[in-house]
Amino acid sequence: MAQITASVYTSHVPAIGAALDHGKTQEPYWQPVFEGYQFAKEWVAARCPDVVVLVYNDHATAFGPELVPTFALGTAAEFPIADEGFGPRPVPPVQGHPELAAHIAQSLIEEDFDLTLANRLPVDHGLTVPLSLMFGEQPVTGQWPVRVIPLAVNVVQYPVPSGRRCLALGRALRRAVHGFPAPLNVQVWGTGGMSHQLQGRRAGLINRAWDQQFIDRLIFEPEALAAVPTVDYVREAGSEGIELVMWLVARGAMGDLAGQPPPRLARRFYHVPASNTAVGHLILEDPEIRT
Ligand code: DHB
Ligand code: FE
Repeated sequence: MAQITASVYTSHVPAIGAALDHGKTQEPYWQPVFEGYQFAKEWVAARCPDVVVLVYNDHATAFGPELVPTFALGTAAEFPIADEGFGPRPVPPVQGHPELAAHIAQSLIEEDFDLTLANRLPVDHGLTVPLSLMFGEQPVTGQWPVRVIPLAVNVVQYPVPSGRRCLALGRALRRAVHGFPAPLNVQVWGTGGMSHQLQGRRAGLINRAWDQQFIDRLIFEPEALAAVPTVDYVREAGSEGIELVMWLVARGAMGDLAGQPPPRLARRFYHVPASNTAVGHLILEDPEIRT
């Protein structure tokens, strides 16, 4: 039986990818960011999963105003690296897991989640920057160490799904993965955030106190956190701070019920600034699994 062993949470700032791709990781501005992910790189190398279900948002790259799926699951065998205006990032294409993806689709849709199935999906920085942060540089002709099932959440075009819906999706995702007959080690990663606003009068907004409280509540009271309305994210964490609802999908996939111990905290990191964004990063492990 497949099992979700851990979840990872991270910002996906595009300039982090550019810093990596252009050899700037040791520059004073970037050094603390990459140092903050050193633990994660060692952690994941020591317990590399077979598959990552990577929850991210497409930034009007594969989708756009003409087509806005609320939740889209990547069911392809391979996902090309998108060209976001400067040519595709020099990283390997992403290998999918069509069998597990088809099983997840079946299970979630039978549980009444109206997924869009994406059989052709170029992936943008929302997906590739977390891979780079966790696995470091990879030769463009090489392969990522894991298979990836992209799960794209619309947080760009309103209305966007609620925190409550994202948490419920994560819980259903756990049931789906645990129903897959092959013995796969699966992690769920939630990306985006933390506080940031890229446009308008409040461009540059960062809210450290709100971000820290979000992390505390994500670990210890996800149910209450999931009740926070969308408008609160936008007001407190900026227009792009709404990306944080995607962290609730990954948290839901850890699956603890009220009264059970919370997942084991392996890593917590927070750093400002990285481009326009407060970088937040967390690793939660299943407390029942020895690592
Ligand atoms: C930035 C952050 C994002 O999450 C994004 O999608 C684009 C840009 C930034 O901080 O510049
Ligand atoms: Fe983003």
